[in-house]
Amino acid sequence: MNTPIDPDYEVPRNHVIVLFGATGDLAKRKIIPGLFHLASAGLLPERYRIIGSAPSRFAMGTDAFRSYARDAVRQFGSNQPEGDVWEHFEASLSFVVADPEDFSSLSRAVTAAEHDIGGTVGRLFHLAVPPDAVLAMIEALGACGLHENSRVICEKPFGVDLASAQNLNAVIKANFEETQVFRIDHFLGKESIDNILALRFANRLFEPLWNRDHVRYVQIDVPETISIENRGAFYEETGAFRDMVVTHLFQVLGFIAMEQPTSLDAGPLRDEVHKVFQTLRPIDPANVVRGQYDGYRNEHGVAPDSQTETFVALRAEVENTRWKGVPFYLRTGKCLAQSRQVITIGFDEPVMRLFPTGTSEPKWRGNKLVVDFADPGSIHAHFLTKEPGPHMHLDSAEMTFHYQDSFRAANNLEAYEHLILEAMLGSRALFTRSDGIERLWEVAAPLLDNPQPVQFYAKGSWGPEAIADVIEPNEWCLPQ
Ligand code: BG6
Repeated sequence: MNTPIDPDYEVPRNHVIVLFGATGDLAKRKIIPGLFHLASAGLLPERYRIIGSAPSRFAMGTDAFRSYARDAVRQFGSNQPEGDVWEHFEASLSFVVADPEDFSSLSRAVTAAEHDIGGTVGRLFHLAVPPDAVLAMIEALGACGLHENSRVICEKPFGVDLASAQNLNAVIKANFEETQVFRIDHFLGKESIDNILALRFANRLFEPLWNRDHVRYVQIDVPETISIENRGAFYEETGAFRDMVVTHLFQVLGFIAMEQPTSLDAGPLRDEVHKVFQTLRPIDPANVVRGQYDGYRNEHGVAPDSQTETFVALRAEVENTRWKGVPFYLRTGKCLAQSRQVITIGFDEPVMRLFPTGTSEPKWRGNKLVVDFADPGSIHAHFLTKEPGPHMHLDSAEMTFHYQDSFRAANNLEAYEHLILEAMLGSRALFTRSDGIERLWEVAAPLLDNPQPVQFYAKGSWGPEAIADVIEPNEWCLPQ
């Protein structure tokens, strides 16, 4: 049952996994299907139990939870809930109600599951719960002693500003050792984001150019076609900047801008990312456009005069020797024209123009390296080439690498699967650090304190017209 798809892969020791928020959206779409895919890939432990948990208002029995899980896998999983693997997985599932005031049933269920498994058993708590429920859960775990010998995965957002993040970190610290804490940012579990490390540090081809002497700009562009999808109450309090930029996009920026770590271990890797965050300049509201899609104010749970942004485009700056003067343009939003996840490194033109200007060649002649990090991911190098024929005219050409054409698709792990596996194995390299998160809230503070009014945009567009001003004299690489 636990033969990994690749013999090189490490299988975690036996585990009891407690999934808080088991009836919620995240559990249904990502975590339950992800755990089942890990089971199918032979990457769950030899012996494991998965306890779904939620407060009493969401109570259900174990049978109901098993059928809920089957539906979740059928609807959102990469493989169907059938055969021996499913039967084994289903038999490992149970459901226990846990209100923060009383974790006694949960505590008994965890102890019974550990006893059942026998020997040394890892405990993993995954807090897939809304931000306002996290503090109480952490305290309850500490109070009932379940925190001992355990690991805890915390979901973003980690607070809503510096003060709340500091408070959250203090409560976590009072109940868990830092080595037990896994703050998940699922973008860091994406294959193509981890591949940035390989692209840069395993190759000689790009890294010598990866600096202010050759790079004109960096764009991290994550437009989404989806709306807020019935998450009105959550989104009103959060908005696109907190939901996507302070978390995911800044973490991606960290991987692009970091220096080479001395190793890929959690310590050196996260130190280098942290140094980037320390040199990130606080966001100047003058370099930001906040947008709101037409009709957002009619969504359930949204105020009729809401100033929450569903779109944000901004210029960030990393003030260090490698990057000073290179703009990092970040953009994301809901109800936009396309769903894409793209990093573009725009390089300067050669110093001298040797070739005459042709009619079909682009106005700006710099090369571009484009990392498309939506699964399964691809990399495109755009360069100029001579058109065939007797003249010396240039045209654009492209070299591409597609993950799906190059490797066995069966080895793909979705971001959540990858990170849950890393947490079971105790590797924190791809998880965020409390000081880094606090620093990012410091960087965010000027915009949070002084947000300009939202500008409206039509659904299906690329955001408010003012986005051209943010990026001037450069241009957004999408949608071209
Ligand atoms: C989540 C955000 O963290 O990431 C969502 O809350 C967003 O608003 C999502 O849509 C994007 O994730 P993915 O899996 O599409 O890369």
